[in-house]
Amino acid sequence: MGRSHVGIQLMGEPQAEIDVCLRGLLSQGFDARKVPLASGEIATAGREDILVFAGSYRPALHVPARLSDLAGSRRSRTILFLDAMDPRSFSEFEQAGFFFVNVTTDMSVKSLVGLIAEVDPQAVYQASKTAALRASMSSGIADAVVDLFGRLRADPVAPALAESARQRWAMDELIGKSPMSVWIDLIQNYHDGTAQHCALVSGYTLAFARALGVGKEQTGRLFDAAFFHDVGKALIPLEILDKPGPLDPAEWEIMKRHVLHSYDILSRDAQTNGEIARVARDHHEYLDGTGYPQGIRGREIDDITRIITICDIFAALTEKRAYKPPKPFDEAYSVLASMAGTKLDPDLVRMFEKVAAESDGGHQPVMSAA
Ligand SMILES: [Fe+2]
Ligand SMILES: [Fe+2]
Repeated sequence: MGRSHVGIQLMGEPQAEIDVCLRGLLSQGFDARKVPLASGEIATAGREDILVFAGSYRPALHVPARLSDLAGSRRSRTILFLDAMDPRSFSEFEQAGFFFVNVTTDMSVKSLVGLIAEVDPQAVYQASKTAALRASMSSGIADAVVDLFGRLRADPVAPALAESARQRWAMDELIGKSPMSVWIDLIQNYHDGTAQHCALVSGYTLAFARALGVGKEQTGRLFDAAFFHDVGKALIPLEILDKPGPLDPAEWEIMKRHVLHSYDILSRDAQTNGEIARVARDHHEYLDGTGYPQGIRGREIDDITRIITICDIFAALTEKRAYKPPKPFDEAYSVLASMAGTKLDPDLVRMFEKVAAESDGGHQPVMSAA
Protein backbone atom coordinates (compact mmCIF):
# COMPACT_ATOMS: atom_id res chain seq x y z
CA MET A 1 0.00 0.00 0.00
CA GLY A 2 3.05 2.23 0.26
CA ARG A 3 2.01 4.13 3.35
CA SER A 4 3.49 4.82 6.73
CA HIS A 5 2.69 2.71 9.71
CA VAL A 6 -0.26 3.88 11.82
CA GLY A 7 -0.23 3.45 15.58
CA ILE A 8 -3.02 4.40 17.97
CA GLN A 9 -1.86 6.31 21.05
CA LEU A 10 -4.35 6.31 23.92
CA MET A 11 -4.19 8.70 26.81
CA GLY A 12 -6.63 9.94 29.37
CA GLU A 13 -8.89 8.72 32.09
CA PRO A 14 -10.46 6.78 33.69
CA GLN A 15 -7.63 4.30 33.37
CA ALA A 16 -9.93 1.25 33.50
CA GLU A 17 -11.81 2.50 30.44
CA ILE A 18 -8.57 3.23 28.60
CA ASP A 19 -7.35 -0.30 29.40
CA VAL A 20 -10.54 -1.88 28.02
CA CYS A 21 -10.12 0.10 24.80
CA LEU A 22 -6.45 -0.79 24.59
CA ARG A 23 -7.17 -4.52 24.88
CA GLY A 24 -10.04 -4.27 22.37
CA LEU A 25 -7.92 -2.43 19.81
CA LEU A 26 -5.02 -4.86 20.19
CA SER A 27 -7.36 -7.84 19.73
CA GLN A 28 -8.68 -6.27 16.53
CA GLY A 29 -5.20 -6.00 15.07
CA PHE A 30 -4.44 -2.35 15.81
CA ASP A 31 -1.01 -1.29 16.96
CA ALA A 32 -2.18 0.54 20.07
CA ARG A 33 -0.47 1.69 23.24
CA LYS A 34 -1.24 3.72 26.27
CA VAL A 35 0.78 6.81 27.07
CA PRO A 36 0.70 8.67 30.37
CA LEU A 37 -1.39 11.80 30.35
CA ALA A 38 0.65 14.87 29.44
CA SER A 39 3.66 12.68 28.91
CA GLY A 40 6.59 13.87 26.85
CA GLU A 41 6.36 10.49 25.10
CA ILE A 42 3.59 11.80 22.90
CA ALA A 43 6.18 13.86 21.08
CA THR A 44 7.84 10.69 19.87
CA ALA A 45 4.66 9.35 18.26
CA GLY A 46 4.96 8.79 14.50
CA ARG A 47 3.53 11.35 12.12
CA GLU A 48 0.85 8.92 10.99
CA ASP A 49 -0.24 8.01 14.51
CA ILE A 50 -3.78 8.68 15.64
CA LEU A 51 -4.09 10.15 19.12
CA VAL A 52 -7.08 9.35 21.28
CA PHE A 53 -7.68 11.55 24.27
CA ALA A 54 -10.38 10.61 26.76
CA GLY A 55 -11.47 12.09 29.99
CA SER A 56 -13.25 14.89 31.74
CA TYR A 57 -13.01 18.31 30.26
CA ARG A 58 -11.56 20.65 32.82
CA PRO A 59 -10.93 24.00 31.24
CA ALA A 60 -8.10 24.85 33.58
CA LEU A 61 -6.25 21.71 32.63
CA HIS A 62 -7.39 20.84 29.14
CA VAL A 63 -7.97 24.08 27.34
CA PRO A 64 -7.67 23.65 23.59
CA ALA A 65 -4.24 25.26 23.59
CA ARG A 66 -3.00 22.63 26.03
CA LEU A 67 -4.46 19.78 23.99
CA SER A 68 -2.98 21.22 20.87
CA ASP A 69 0.44 21.12 22.54
CA LEU A 70 -0.07 17.42 23.15
CA ALA A 71 -1.25 16.69 19.69
CA GLY A 72 1.44 18.84 18.04
CA SER A 73 0.89 19.16 14.33
CA ARG A 74 -1.37 16.10 14.21
CA ARG A 75 -4.55 17.71 15.48
CA SER A 76 -6.63 16.46 12.58
CA ARG A 77 -5.63 12.95 13.63
CA THR A 78 -6.65 13.42 17.24
CA ILE A 79 -9.94 11.97 18.48
CA LEU A 80 -11.43 13.47 21.61
CA PHE A 81 -13.78 11.80 24.04
CA LEU A 82 -14.69 14.41 26.59
CA ASP A 83 -17.36 14.50 29.22
CA ALA A 84 -18.51 17.12 31.68
CA MET A 85 -18.06 19.68 28.95
CA ASP A 86 -20.14 22.69 28.14
CA PRO A 87 -21.41 22.14 24.59
CA ARG A 88 -20.60 25.80 23.89
CA SER A 89 -16.96 24.82 24.00
CA PHE A 90 -17.35 22.57 20.97
CA SER A 91 -16.43 25.29 18.56
CA GLU A 92 -13.17 26.01 20.40
CA PHE A 93 -12.05 22.46 19.69
CA GLU A 94 -13.18 22.56 16.11
CA GLN A 95 -11.33 25.81 15.55
CA ALA A 96 -8.22 24.31 17.09
CA GLY A 97 -8.36 21.70 14.29
CA PHE A 98 -9.22 18.58 16.26
CA PHE A 99 -11.20 15.68 14.85
CA PHE A 100 -13.82 16.55 17.37
CA VAL A 101 -16.08 13.80 18.56
CA ASN A 102 -18.64 14.14 21.25
CA VAL A 103 -19.38 14.71 24.85
CA THR A 104 -19.61 11.21 26.17
CA THR A 105 -18.85 9.12 29.17
CA ASP A 106 -19.05 5.98 27.08
CA MET A 107 -15.98 5.32 24.99
CA SER A 108 -16.50 1.84 23.53
CA VAL A 109 -14.13 -0.06 21.28
CA LYS A 110 -16.83 -0.14 18.64
CA SER A 111 -17.35 3.61 18.58
CA LEU A 112 -13.60 4.16 18.65
CA VAL A 113 -13.02 1.87 15.65
CA GLY A 114 -15.80 3.68 13.81
CA LEU A 115 -14.11 7.02 14.44
CA ILE A 116 -10.68 5.72 13.48
CA ALA A 117 -12.30 4.55 10.23
CA GLU A 118 -13.42 8.13 9.60
CA VAL A 119 -9.98 9.59 10.31
CA ASP A 120 -8.08 6.90 8.39
CA PRO A 121 -9.99 4.03 6.70
CA GLN A 122 -6.76 2.36 5.65
CA ALA A 123 -5.65 2.04 9.28
CA VAL A 124 -8.77 -0.01 10.01
CA TYR A 125 -8.24 -2.12 6.90
CA GLN A 126 -4.64 -2.83 7.89
CA ALA A 127 -5.67 -3.73 11.44
CA SER A 128 -8.33 -6.05 10.11
CA LYS A 129 -5.74 -7.75 7.93
CA THR A 130 -3.35 -8.12 10.85
CA ALA A 131 -6.10 -9.70 12.93
CA ALA A 132 -7.03 -12.03 10.06
CA LEU A 133 -3.42 -13.09 9.55
CA ARG A 134 -3.06 -13.77 13.25
CA ALA A 135 -6.23 -15.86 13.29
CA SER A 136 -5.24 -17.76 10.17
CA MET A 137 -1.86 -18.61 11.64
CA SER A 138 -3.37 -19.96 14.81
CA SER A 139 -5.84 -22.10 12.88
CA GLY A 140 -3.24 -23.15 10.32
CA ILE A 141 -5.29 -22.32 7.23
CA ALA A 142 -2.27 -21.66 5.06
CA ASP A 143 -0.44 -24.89 5.85
CA ALA A 144 -3.54 -27.04 5.89
CA VAL A 145 -4.77 -25.98 2.47
CA VAL A 146 -1.34 -26.32 0.89
CA ASP A 147 -0.96 -29.80 2.46
CA LEU A 148 -4.33 -30.99 1.30
CA PHE A 149 -3.39 -31.60 -2.30
CA GLY A 150 -0.27 -33.53 -1.45
CA ARG A 151 -2.20 -35.81 0.87
CA LEU A 152 -5.04 -36.42 -1.54
CA ARG A 153 -2.64 -37.94 -4.08
CA ALA A 154 -2.54 -41.16 -2.05
CA ASP A 155 -4.48 -40.94 1.18
CA PRO A 156 -8.14 -41.73 1.78
CA VAL A 157 -10.52 -38.79 1.48
CA ALA A 158 -11.79 -38.93 5.08
CA PRO A 159 -8.89 -36.98 6.69
CA ALA A 160 -9.31 -34.28 4.05
CA LEU A 161 -13.00 -34.07 4.87
CA ALA A 162 -12.20 -33.50 8.53
CA GLU A 163 -9.77 -30.81 7.41
CA SER A 164 -12.47 -29.22 5.28
CA ALA A 165 -14.74 -28.88 8.32
CA ARG A 166 -11.97 -27.10 10.25
CA GLN A 167 -11.19 -24.83 7.29
CA ARG A 168 -14.80 -23.87 6.82
CA TRP A 169 -15.09 -22.85 10.45
CA ALA A 170 -11.88 -20.80 10.29
CA MET A 171 -12.68 -19.16 6.95
CA ASP A 172 -16.25 -18.37 7.94
CA GLU A 173 -14.98 -16.67 11.05
CA LEU A 174 -12.41 -14.62 9.12
CA ILE A 175 -14.83 -13.59 6.40
CA GLY A 176 -17.41 -12.66 9.03
CA LYS A 177 -14.99 -10.40 10.87
CA SER A 178 -13.00 -8.83 8.06
CA PRO A 179 -13.66 -7.23 4.72
CA MET A 180 -13.68 -9.80 1.90
CA SER A 181 -10.63 -8.06 0.44
CA VAL A 182 -8.63 -8.93 3.56
CA TRP A 183 -9.33 -12.61 2.96
CA ILE A 184 -8.30 -12.31 -0.69
CA ASP A 185 -5.05 -10.51 0.18
CA LEU A 186 -4.32 -13.23 2.67
CA ILE A 187 -4.84 -16.09 0.24
CA GLN A 188 -2.91 -14.38 -2.52
CA ASN A 189 0.21 -14.64 -0.38
CA TYR A 190 0.17 -18.43 -0.66
CA HIS A 191 2.56 -19.96 -3.14
CA ASP A 192 0.97 -23.25 -4.07
CA GLY A 193 -1.18 -22.23 -7.01
CA THR A 194 -3.87 -24.89 -6.81
CA ALA A 195 -4.22 -24.73 -3.04
CA GLN A 196 -4.47 -20.95 -3.34
CA HIS A 197 -7.16 -21.34 -5.98
CA CYS A 198 -9.11 -23.87 -3.90
CA ALA A 199 -9.02 -21.59 -0.85
CA LEU A 200 -10.01 -18.57 -2.93
CA VAL A 201 -12.98 -20.37 -4.52
CA SER A 202 -14.04 -21.55 -1.04
CA GLY A 203 -13.88 -18.00 0.28
CA TYR A 204 -15.91 -16.60 -2.62
CA THR A 205 -18.42 -19.41 -2.15
CA LEU A 206 -18.89 -18.60 1.54
CA ALA A 207 -19.35 -14.93 0.72
CA PHE A 208 -21.80 -15.84 -2.06
CA ALA A 209 -23.73 -18.12 0.32
CA ARG A 210 -24.06 -15.18 2.70
CA ALA A 211 -25.21 -12.90 -0.12
CA LEU A 212 -27.79 -15.47 -1.23
CA GLY A 213 -28.97 -15.91 2.35
CA VAL A 214 -28.76 -19.70 2.26
CA GLY A 215 -28.99 -21.67 5.49
CA LYS A 216 -26.21 -23.26 7.48
CA GLU A 217 -26.67 -26.77 6.12
CA GLN A 218 -26.61 -25.67 2.50
CA THR A 219 -23.65 -23.37 3.15
CA GLY A 220 -21.76 -26.42 4.43
CA ARG A 221 -22.58 -28.36 1.25
CA LEU A 222 -21.53 -25.44 -0.93
CA PHE A 223 -18.29 -25.03 0.98
CA ASP A 224 -17.33 -28.69 0.65
CA ALA A 225 -18.14 -28.65 -3.05
CA ALA A 226 -15.90 -25.57 -3.50
CA PHE A 227 -13.13 -26.86 -1.29
CA PHE A 228 -12.81 -30.13 -3.23
CA HIS A 229 -13.79 -29.00 -6.73
CA ASP A 230 -10.26 -29.12 -8.19
CA VAL A 231 -8.66 -31.93 -6.16
CA GLY A 232 -8.08 -33.80 -9.42
CA LYS A 233 -5.38 -31.27 -10.27
CA ALA A 234 -3.25 -33.17 -7.77
CA LEU A 235 -2.86 -35.71 -10.58
CA ILE A 236 -2.00 -33.22 -13.35
CA PRO A 237 1.76 -32.80 -13.98
CA LEU A 238 3.21 -29.63 -12.43
CA GLU A 239 4.79 -28.67 -15.79
CA ILE A 240 1.26 -28.25 -17.11
CA LEU A 241 -0.24 -26.63 -13.99
CA ASP A 242 2.58 -24.07 -13.74
CA LYS A 243 3.36 -23.58 -17.44
CA PRO A 244 4.22 -19.90 -17.90
CA GLY A 245 2.26 -19.64 -21.14
CA PRO A 246 -0.82 -20.96 -22.94
CA LEU A 247 -1.28 -24.76 -23.06
CA ASP A 248 -0.96 -26.50 -26.42
CA PRO A 249 -3.92 -28.67 -27.53
CA ALA A 250 -2.40 -31.91 -26.14
CA GLU A 251 -1.62 -30.29 -22.78
CA TRP A 252 -5.09 -28.81 -22.68
CA GLU A 253 -6.63 -32.27 -23.13
CA ILE A 254 -4.58 -33.48 -20.13
CA MET A 255 -5.61 -30.45 -18.08
CA LYS A 256 -9.30 -31.06 -18.81
CA ARG A 257 -8.99 -34.52 -17.26
CA HIS A 258 -8.70 -32.93 -13.80
CA VAL A 259 -12.48 -33.02 -13.45
CA LEU A 260 -12.55 -36.79 -13.97
CA HIS A 261 -9.60 -37.26 -11.59
CA SER A 262 -11.54 -35.19 -9.03
CA TYR A 263 -14.55 -37.43 -9.54
CA ASP A 264 -12.43 -40.58 -9.05
CA ILE A 265 -10.71 -39.26 -5.91
CA LEU A 266 -13.95 -38.10 -4.32
CA SER A 267 -15.75 -41.33 -5.21
CA ARG A 268 -13.38 -43.17 -2.86
CA ASP A 269 -15.34 -41.99 0.17
CA ALA A 270 -18.98 -42.43 1.01
CA GLN A 271 -19.23 -38.86 2.29
CA THR A 272 -17.99 -37.29 -0.93
CA ASN A 273 -19.11 -39.73 -3.61
CA GLY A 274 -22.47 -38.05 -4.20
CA GLU A 275 -23.01 -34.35 -4.66
CA ILE A 276 -19.42 -33.25 -3.96
CA ALA A 277 -18.00 -35.63 -6.58
CA ARG A 278 -20.65 -34.59 -9.10
CA VAL A 279 -19.99 -30.87 -8.66
CA ALA A 280 -16.26 -31.52 -9.08
CA ARG A 281 -16.98 -33.38 -12.31
CA ASP A 282 -19.40 -30.77 -13.68
CA HIS A 283 -17.92 -27.43 -12.61
CA HIS A 284 -16.62 -26.68 -16.14
CA GLU A 285 -19.95 -27.41 -17.83
CA TYR A 286 -21.88 -24.49 -19.33
CA LEU A 287 -25.64 -23.97 -19.75
CA ASP A 288 -25.28 -23.85 -23.58
CA GLY A 289 -23.55 -27.25 -23.68
CA THR A 290 -20.11 -25.89 -24.65
CA GLY A 291 -18.36 -27.01 -21.44
CA TYR A 292 -16.60 -30.25 -20.50
CA PRO A 293 -16.28 -33.19 -19.80
CA GLN A 294 -19.73 -34.24 -21.06
CA GLY A 295 -21.17 -31.13 -22.67
CA ILE A 296 -24.34 -31.38 -20.58
CA ARG A 297 -26.64 -28.34 -20.73
CA GLY A 298 -29.40 -26.29 -19.09
CA ARG A 299 -31.35 -28.15 -16.44
CA GLU A 300 -28.83 -30.98 -16.41
CA ILE A 301 -26.58 -28.60 -14.43
CA ASP A 302 -27.87 -28.22 -10.88
CA ASP A 303 -27.91 -25.04 -8.77
CA ILE A 304 -24.99 -25.94 -6.55
CA THR A 305 -22.80 -26.55 -9.61
CA ARG A 306 -23.95 -23.24 -11.15
CA ILE A 307 -22.91 -21.43 -7.98
CA ILE A 308 -19.48 -23.09 -7.78
CA THR A 309 -18.83 -22.45 -11.49
CA ILE A 310 -19.38 -18.70 -11.01
CA CYS A 311 -17.08 -18.59 -7.97
CA ASP A 312 -14.50 -20.72 -9.81
CA ILE A 313 -14.38 -18.44 -12.87
CA PHE A 314 -14.24 -15.29 -10.74
CA ALA A 315 -11.38 -16.78 -8.69
CA ALA A 316 -9.47 -17.87 -11.79
CA LEU A 317 -9.77 -14.37 -13.26
CA THR A 318 -8.77 -12.50 -10.10
CA GLU A 319 -5.82 -14.68 -9.11
CA LYS A 320 -2.29 -14.49 -10.36
CA ARG A 321 -1.24 -17.46 -12.46
CA ALA A 322 2.13 -18.39 -13.94
CA TYR A 323 0.90 -17.15 -17.33
CA LYS A 324 -1.14 -14.07 -16.36
CA PRO A 325 -1.50 -11.21 -13.88
CA PRO A 326 -4.71 -10.95 -11.79
CA LYS A 327 -7.63 -9.10 -13.41
CA PRO A 328 -9.16 -6.16 -11.50
CA PHE A 329 -12.42 -7.15 -9.79
CA ASP A 330 -14.66 -4.95 -11.93
CA GLU A 331 -13.19 -6.38 -15.15
CA ALA A 332 -13.54 -9.91 -13.81
CA TYR A 333 -17.20 -9.27 -13.02
CA SER A 334 -17.71 -7.91 -16.56
CA VAL A 335 -16.43 -11.22 -17.91
CA LEU A 336 -18.99 -13.10 -15.78
CA ALA A 337 -21.71 -10.70 -16.91
CA SER A 338 -20.80 -11.33 -20.56
CA MET A 339 -21.33 -15.09 -19.99
CA ALA A 340 -24.66 -14.67 -18.18
CA GLY A 341 -27.63 -16.20 -19.99
CA THR A 342 -25.58 -18.26 -22.45
CA LYS A 343 -23.07 -20.10 -20.30
CA LEU A 344 -23.91 -19.03 -16.74
CA ASP A 345 -27.12 -18.63 -14.76
CA PRO A 346 -28.10 -14.95 -15.25
CA ASP A 347 -29.91 -14.57 -11.90
CA LEU A 348 -26.96 -15.97 -9.98
CA VAL A 349 -24.48 -13.78 -11.88
CA ARG A 350 -26.58 -10.73 -10.97
CA MET A 351 -26.58 -11.75 -7.31
CA PHE A 352 -22.83 -12.33 -7.38
CA GLU A 353 -22.28 -8.64 -8.14
CA LYS A 354 -22.43 -7.87 -4.40
CA VAL A 355 -19.62 -10.35 -3.68
CA ALA A 356 -17.51 -8.90 -6.50
CA ALA A 357 -18.03 -5.36 -5.18
CA GLU A 358 -17.14 -6.39 -1.63
CA SER A 359 -13.97 -8.00 -2.92
CA ASP A 360 -12.76 -4.77 -4.42
CA GLY A 361 -10.18 -2.90 -2.36
CA GLY A 362 -9.96 -2.45 1.37
CA HIS A 363 -11.62 0.87 1.65
CA GLN A 364 -14.94 0.04 3.26
CA PRO A 365 -13.90 -2.01 6.26
CA VAL A 366 -16.66 -3.62 8.25
CA MET A 367 -15.50 -4.08 11.80
CA SER A 368 -17.43 -4.89 14.89
CA ALA A 369 -16.30 -4.79 18.48
CA ALA A 370 -14.90 -8.15 19.53
FE1 LIG B 1 -11.42 -26.82 -12.42
FE1 LIG C 1 -11.22 -24.36 -10.25
